[in-house]
Amino acid sequence: MRTIEWDARSSELRLIDQRMLPEELKIASLSEPRQAAEAIRDMMVRGAPAIGITGAFGLALAAIHSKARTTKELRIDLEEAASLLREARPTAVNLGWALDQVMDEIDWEESSCDKLRIAVLSSAQKLADEDVATNRRMAENGAVLIDDGDTILHHCNTGALAAVDWGTALGVIRTAHEQGKRIHVLVDETRPRLQGSRLTAWELQQYHIPYHIISDNAAGFFLQSGKVNKVLFGGDRVAANGDVVNKIGTYMLALAAHDNAVPVYAVVPTSSIDLSLASGELVPIEERDPNEVLSLKVEGRATAPREATALNPAFDITPYRLLTAIVTENGIVYPPFLENLGKAVNGNLK
Ligand code: MRU
Repeated sequence: MRTIEWDARSSELRLIDQRMLPEELKIASLSEPRQAAEAIRDMMVRGAPAIGITGAFGLALAAIHSKARTTKELRIDLEEAASLLREARPTAVNLGWALDQVMDEIDWEESSCDKLRIAVLSSAQKLADEDVATNRRMAENGAVLIDDGDTILHHCNTGALAAVDWGTALGVIRTAHEQGKRIHVLVDETRPRLQGSRLTAWELQQYHIPYHIISDNAAGFFLQSGKVNKVLFGGDRVAANGDVVNKIGTYMLALAAHDNAVPVYAVVPTSSIDLSLASGELVPIEERDPNEVLSLKVEGRATAPREATALNPAFDITPYRLLTAIVTENGIVYPPFLENLGKAVNGNLK
């Protein structure tokens, strides 16, 4: 199944509950926009493209289940739902992007509430289908960079689970694997939520792609060993200058790769590119609950004193100078990013 699906029979949104993996593949059904916002905030669904599409379907839930009798009332309900969903997580631009796509496409002059409801749902469904097509194109573009025999260091989870299907950076790895290239993946655990060991390893196992999980701290050691050929990750927001805001730990990884002359590729759909922001420092960085850092147990025992405090920024900024290229569905973007990212967004990259 897709990570996110609309159930036409019950008019509900069905999601893989990513908090339960790898132990259990549990599907959650949501019927209200409030639940969709909560699913995003609590990371039942996560990954930049996935939260964008969940937001879009959150609007569909608002439209379908609204008690509005006039188009004016329906518009108020949708605007309320949009602001609730927009606030769920601040960093990935895809969330606001997807909400804007749906809201901007609505013809508010439409006379019937039912037609408006159908229009909102179709718009969300269209975005979901486009997300899969975009990821496939991005993967084809990125697979050109992968050589037979490569060892690839990968951060966080950028697979089918982070999107509607296929994935971004992991999508590139999947396509290269399908092309018959032999690939070995070093999977960063990705503390504190462990999206690497919990989700990426789970996906790679299903695709029969060989991998080893490594602790985040080990990345520098492997990069220095000369055995890593490429570093691949996704992005939650790319600024106009090419700075990539992505899962915490990406910056340290890119620094170590750069120091060892290992190529670094970010794989992002153009919906993750925010040309309105000049550089990465302007991107809002989500601060999450310190308990995500403190609650880890090793051999069943606490790993921090009971009264310990922690800081938990969920994303960091990788400066553009550390990147070899940014792969998009419209082609591979090389420096100067300031010039070339705009061309990628507008679809006129050479
Ligand atoms: O906090 P998460 O798990 O939503 O963070 C996800 C990432 O940082 C991914 O690497 C990113 O969304 C890009 S891949 C689709």
